[in-house]
Amino acid sequence: MTIAFPPGFRWGVATSAYQIEGAARQDGRGASIWDTFSAVPGAIASGDTGEVAADHYHRWAADVELLAGLGVDAYRFSVSWSRILPDGRGRIEQRGIDFYRRLVEALLAKGIEPFVTLYHWDLPQALEDEGGWRNRETAGCFAEYAAIVHDALGDVVSKWTTLNEPYCSSIVGYGEGRHAPGAREGHGALAAAHHLLLGHGMAVQAMRADARPGQEFGIVLNQSPAVPVTQDPADVAAADRQDCLLRRQFSDPLFGSAYSDELTSMFGAITDFSFRRDEDLAIIGEPLDYVGINYYYRLHVADAPHREPDPAKRTAHDIGVDTTRLPDVPRTGMGWPVEPAGLTTALTDLTARYPGLPPIYITENGCVYPDSGTFEDHDRIAYLQDHLAAAEAAATAGVPLRGYFCWSLLDNFEWAHGYKHRFGLVHVDYPTQRRTPRASYHWYRSFLSTARE
Ligand code: NOJ
Repeated sequence: MTIAFPPGFRWGVATSAYQIEGAARQDGRGASIWDTFSAVPGAIASGDTGEVAADHYHRWAADVELLAGLGVDAYRFSVSWSRILPDGRGRIEQRGIDFYRRLVEALLAKGIEPFVTLYHWDLPQALEDEGGWRNRETAGCFAEYAAIVHDALGDVVSKWTTLNEPYCSSIVGYGEGRHAPGAREGHGALAAAHHLLLGHGMAVQAMRADARPGQEFGIVLNQSPAVPVTQDPADVAAADRQDCLLRRQFSDPLFGSAYSDELTSMFGAITDFSFRRDEDLAIIGEPLDYVGINYYYRLHVADAPHREPDPAKRTAHDIGVDTTRLPDVPRTGMGWPVEPAGLTTALTDLTARYPGLPPIYITENGCVYPDSGTFEDHDRIAYLQDHLAAAEAAATAGVPLRGYFCWSLLDNFEWAHGYKHRFGLVHVDYPTQRRTPRASYHWYRSFLSTARE
């Protein structure tokens, strides 16, 4: 036990519903935007889909055994909205609720605390058909869904995360089109970002109105600090715009009670922000009990000419930045630069910027490397060791860090990359669904036993 990782510090692993569950059409589950998007030719590498994934829906009991064997005391997973409400609202599917209750009870029986995420990118398709997150009403539907799950599992779950990485659900999904629903819109992506935040605030309020003692509510944000490639003022300003888009668009209204003027002025042709209503800010700023951050890499940003496209097609991320000039550092199998120091600054930046920020969990951190054909993933072990040291440095510097979750327990559906990239501590042989713990699984287990001493 160190000062940085004191008693009560949570050690876990994380997964998400669409990435592992499979059983996409079973027990009354409705379609989500990822089912639809995966079926679009060319959207996902190799035409992969989450239809079967790691078959966790059928193998959850064995997966809980893997968690127990790993020695984690916390497990972060997400609930599939369309398993609970196949149409996004209205009719409740009891079989969906039963699945998560069985899972939670099995976790608790092993002494593993469930950290539930309500939205990890899989919007019910029926709501997308009505505009999805561009539509303000989706925020209200999310709050209703949150209240239903909270009502059903509130006696056995105390950690409630609303959204995972709203940047990806909005800007990557509605702006860049790389994620579901595959839209390339400027205005729509920014409206989606706002409505996600509004839905988050409404959901926290709805759950808190009926909270049990000790329950905690939070959100998970991806934090990739933006570093200018040179000290040229143009590059410094570009890095600032990038940071505004990815981080402060979300953290400012959540913890600083307003959007910055910069965020409103940097999109050129997009000037209509009427989707932001004054009264929304108090809802979005509903106090939280914790914030989760996901860290994988730093962004290196250079100034680039603004493209001047047809305003209707202007993508939200067209903010005059070039993020392709990477430094000469090792990279993961996804091409992401390995820079553990970025985790320290992600943590210290957030704490410095928002006085009164709630305690922090690192809710995701992990990597892929090219498959060596063995289970000896020593690159992953080195990555995790270095990032844990970076987390420890931040905690020692005063960041109120409460836990660390490695991404991921199992190999899984890595969104637009399909199954090619394997993030698991446990290898999954997809044709047979056989699970084989990698060296990193054994390493994490012994690390945890030492960390707890
Ligand atoms: C963050 C996302 O939350 C998760 O779903 C994804 O698999 C990892 N990043 C790795 O890309």
